[in-house]
Amino acid sequence: MRTDPSMMEPLLGTFADRAPSGDGLAADRSLLPFADAVPVDVEARATGSGRTLDLHDTLQARRSTLQYGKAPVRTDLILRWVREALVRDADDWGLDDACGPLEAFVFALRSEGRPAGIYRVTAREASFIAPASAVGDPRSLGIQMEFADGAGIVTVCANLDAADSWTGAHGFRLCAVRASMALYDFHLRCQSDRLAGTVFGGFIGAAVRHLIQSDGVTRHPLLSATYAHPAS
Ligand SMILES: Cc1cc2nc3c(=O)[nH]c(=O)nc-3n(C[C@H](O)[C@H](O)[C@H](O)COP(=O)(O)O)c2cc1C
Repeated sequence: MRTDPSMMEPLLGTFADRAPSGDGLAADRSLLPFADAVPVDVEARATGSGRTLDLHDTLQARRSTLQYGKAPVRTDLILRWVREALVRDADDWGLDDACGPLEAFVFALRSEGRPAGIYRVTAREASFIAPASAVGDPRSLGIQMEFADGAGIVTVCANLDAADSWTGAHGFRLCAVRASMALYDFHLRCQSDRLAGTVFGGFIGAAVRHLIQSDGVTRHPLLSATYAHPAS
């Protein structure tokens, strides 16, 4: 069956459109703050395992899994890798001023070296924003049961308000691509250090809204991954 090219034009037109779908005034709004955030010095305390696979061997060896070891994971390492992924995003795309920076939240459920709880990470800073008691039972956060057994979960958020003001739906598409690249950057780094994990969409938005101040507009979770030691 042949497709009439003119039928594709309306569809392709929507991809070319750069008009904001909202009021275009994101610059007048700011991200919801975290009043009790305690700054965390990521660089000073994070050291690698010294057993890191290169990219080729990582890709050969990696696979997703829904079974996780019970040992806690060093949260300093996770914070460092998340931050490195976000720095690469900021440097590679150069879009933080136009489209808004990515942010990540680390739900450190079984944590070694730092308190369990929620950490906020950007390319520039990291902070501890909520203790484990605020998270409660991770199974109540609207995630697939197996994911609550991970040592932790990283979720990457974007500012869709800024992206829309910048270039409408195109801004959203770029946020989705950037978040995917940053999340897979982190996920592959975990796998290269022989940690386990699985990429997944994320929490039910309403379940973590109060924890990470995600209003779905200025701060919207786009993609997540578990991390843990492998099940033996
Ligand atoms: C956007 C996205 C969402 C996903 N969501 C889930 C999920 O909710 N539950 C799940 O078991 N796997 C989910 N997966 C699939 C796993 O992360 C994994 O990619 C899949 O099991 C293939 O295994 P592999 O990574 O070893 O190739 C998702 C993958 C992507 C890319």
